[in-house]
Amino acid sequence: MELSLIKPDRNIQSPFPGRIFFYEELESTMTQARALVASGDAGQGTIVQAGTQSAGRGRIPGRKWESGQGQNLLFTILIERKSLKIPISVFPLAAGLAVSLALEELRIPCSIKWPNDILCGEKKICGILCETAGSFLSAGIGLNCNQERFPGGLKRPPTSIFMETGRESPPSILLETLLPHLHSVLTMENWHAEIERRLYGMGRMAILSEGAADSGGEKRVRISGIGGQGELMVEGADGARSAVFTGEILYDQS
Ligand code: BTN
Repeated sequence: MELSLIKPDRNIQSPFPGRIFFYEELESTMTQARALVASGDAGQGTIVQAGTQSAGRGRIPGRKWESGQGQNLLFTILIERKSLKIPISVFPLAAGLAVSLALEELRIPCSIKWPNDILCGEKKICGILCETAGSFLSAGIGLNCNQERFPGGLKRPPTSIFMETGRESPPSILLETLLPHLHSVLTMENWHAEIERRLYGMGRMAILSEGAADSGGEKRVRISGIGGQGELMVEGADGARSAVFTGEILYDQS
């Protein structure tokens, strides 16, 4: 695919030294960010943003992240691993915390569904995909801004800022609101309390799928918090506490 690097609709202020690359269309911002790392063109906070993606990737392998041209915020940010003051395994949750803080700044209440979906009530407004790329971590963020119609068959009903507030929000403004929060969570001391305070289903019963995405193995647990490495702490039916490092909360049963 021919890549067209274009000027964004506004000059975005970033607290990171890295450049912002904006493309009208990409296969995936994750792939393009990885290419920048490989070519040595990536720095701290380099951002690859796209108006739309032809093969946007979700956390579940094979499931596409669909988003109409210019409707939503779609980007990947590269963070040097050595710049983190939080544990590396907490990075996905911290990215979710940054999105939550940005939405709260816009007076949109939300919660962090472990490991890193952002929900408004029961509806998903943002998905995050974190990977490693050489000496960088990458966080791919898809934040629904103005979309009103979504493809069928999604696990959770989606929502967008427009659907929550009735206000149109240009993706570039959301990016500018989000970047200072992404910058501050990397070195945040009280990340644990800030994440637990916003944890979806905290103290409630939930159905948890353990292990790699969609690999089966569901169990009923009570969500009791977040551990020191970002793992989900749960209580089983016998009251025994355990830590879950890979998996997903499927349903909250209250
Ligand atoms: C999920 O909830 O499954 C994670 C979705 C992540 C989507 C974003 S959109 C920007 C970045 N580029 C991708 O291809 N995926 C992420």
